[in-house]
Amino acid sequence: MKYARKAAFKVSIMYVFIGAIWVLISDKISRTLAQDRFEVYIFFQQYKGWFFVLTTGIILYGLVYRRAYHLIQSQNELIRKDHELQTSNEHYQSLFKHNPDAVFEISKEGQILSVNPEGEAVTGYSTLQLKEMQIAELTIEEDLDMYHRHFDSVLQGKAAEYELRIMKQDGQRRLLRCSLLPIIVHAEVTGLFMIARDITNYRRDEELMIASEKLSVIGQMAAAVAHEIRNPLTSLRGFVQVMQATKKADDAYLAIMMSEIDRINLISSEMLILGKKQHVSFQKTNVYEVLNQVVVLMEAQANFNNVSLRLEAESKQTIFIMSDPNQLKQVFINIIKNGVEAIVDQGEIIVTLTESQGQAMIQFKDNGIGMSQERINQVGTPFYSTKESGTGLGLAVCFKIIERHKGLLKFESEKGKGTIVTIVIPLAEESYI
Ligand SMILES: Nc1ncnc2c1ncn2[C@@H]1O[C@H](COP(=O)(O)OP(=O)(O)OP(=O)(O)O)[C@@H](O)[C@H]1O
Ligand SMILES: [Mg+2]
Repeated sequence: MKYARKAAFKVSIMYVFIGAIWVLISDKISRTLAQDRFEVYIFFQQYKGWFFVLTTGIILYGLVYRRAYHLIQSQNELIRKDHELQTSNEHYQSLFKHNPDAVFEISKEGQILSVNPEGEAVTGYSTLQLKEMQIAELTIEEDLDMYHRHFDSVLQGKAAEYELRIMKQDGQRRLLRCSLLPIIVHAEVTGLFMIARDITNYRRDEELMIASEKLSVIGQMAAAVAHEIRNPLTSLRGFVQVMQATKKADDAYLAIMMSEIDRINLISSEMLILGKKQHVSFQKTNVYEVLNQVVVLMEAQANFNNVSLRLEAESKQTIFIMSDPNQLKQVFINIIKNGVEAIVDQGEIIVTLTESQGQAMIQFKDNGIGMSQERINQVGTPFYSTKESGTGLGLAVCFKIIERHKGLLKFESEKGKGTIVTIVIPLAEESYI
C-alpha cells in the first residue's frame, strides 16, 4: 500500500514537472520562432497543447500497459501457485485421510494436533477428544519410558521405530507397531508424525503358531525322552534287585543309582519347563545355560538316533543377550532336531557359542545329508518340508523368534557333507547387565 502511494506520488510529480518544463520551453520556442509575427505565435500556442496531450497520452498508454501486463502476469502466477498448493495439500490430505495406518500429528510438546480416521479407529477416541490428549496418555505405564526415549531422539531429527502398547477408550489393550518421524521445516524440527499399525491380532496368531509348534515338538520328543528315562530305570531296577538279594547296600551301587536318578530328574524337569505355558518375557539371558539345558533334553533324541551331540568345550560361558529363554530353547531344539534328522546312520552335531562385534554367535554343525542352494532358499517358508511327517513349521517359527530377538539366522550347507546353522543375536546392553 505504502509502495503504491509512493509510486503514484512519483508519477504525479513527474507529470507536473514535465508539464511545467514543457510549458516554459514551448512558450520560449514559440516566442523565439514567431518573433514579431503574431499569427505564427497563435499557431504555436494552438497546437502545442494538442501536441502535449497526444504525447503524454502515448506515454501514459505505454506505462499503464506495462504495469497492467506485469500485474496480470503476477496475478496469474499467484493463481497457478495457489492451485499447486491446493493440489499438493489435497495429495497430502489423501495420504493422511485414506492411509490404512493411523497417522497422528504431534506437537513438540507431545500434544496431538491432528489425527486421521484410522487413528480414531485404533484408539477408539474421536478427533476432538484426541486433540485434547497426548500420546503418552494412551500409552500403558510399562511402555512410557520407552516412548519418551524415542520421542526425545526424534526431536533431535532421528526417526524411530518401536512397538507400543496402548489402552483403547473401551479399556482394551492393543499393540501398535509405530514409526515416529520428525516434521522438519526450514531445517528445524517443528513437530512429529506418528504412523501406527495395530498388530495385536497378528501378534496373537504368531504367538499361537509358535505355541502349537512347540507342542508338536514336545510330542515328537516324548518318545525319545521316554526311552532315555527307561534306560536308567532298568539299571536302577537291576541294582535294587541285587541289593534285595544280598541284603547289603553297596556304596558304589548307591552312587551310580543316585546319578541315574539325578539324570532322570534333570530330563523330566527340563521337559516340564518346556511344556509349561509361559508368557513371552524378555530378560537378560545367559546363552550358555540355555544351550546346556537344550543339550540335556536333546541328548535323548540324539542317542536314540546314534548321533553324538556336544556343546564345544571352548564355548564362552558368560554371554548375555536379551531374550525370552523359552522361545530361544524352541529355536535351538528345532535346529538340533533337524540336524539329528539329517544324519542317516550315525554322526555328530557340534554346538559352539562365541562372541564377536557386540553379538552372540551360536553355531550348530552337523555332518548330515546337507542341502542344495535351492533348498536353503526355501527353508523358513511355512509348510516347506522334505520329510514325510514334517510340518515344515520348525524353521518358520525359528525365523520369527530370531527376528523378534533382532538377530539373524543363516544356513551354509553342502550336499552330502553337512550343514552349519548360524544364529547371531546382539548382546544385552551394558545398562541391562
Ligand atoms: N540341518 C539340516 N540338514 C539338511 N536339511 C535340513 C536341515 N535343516 C533343515 N533342513 C531342510 O529344511 C526343511 C524345513 O525344515 P523345518 O524344520 O522347517 O521343517 P521340517 O523339519 O521338515 O518339519 P518339522 O520341523 O515340523 O519336523 C526340512 O524338511 C529339510 O529338508
Ligand atoms: Mg524341523
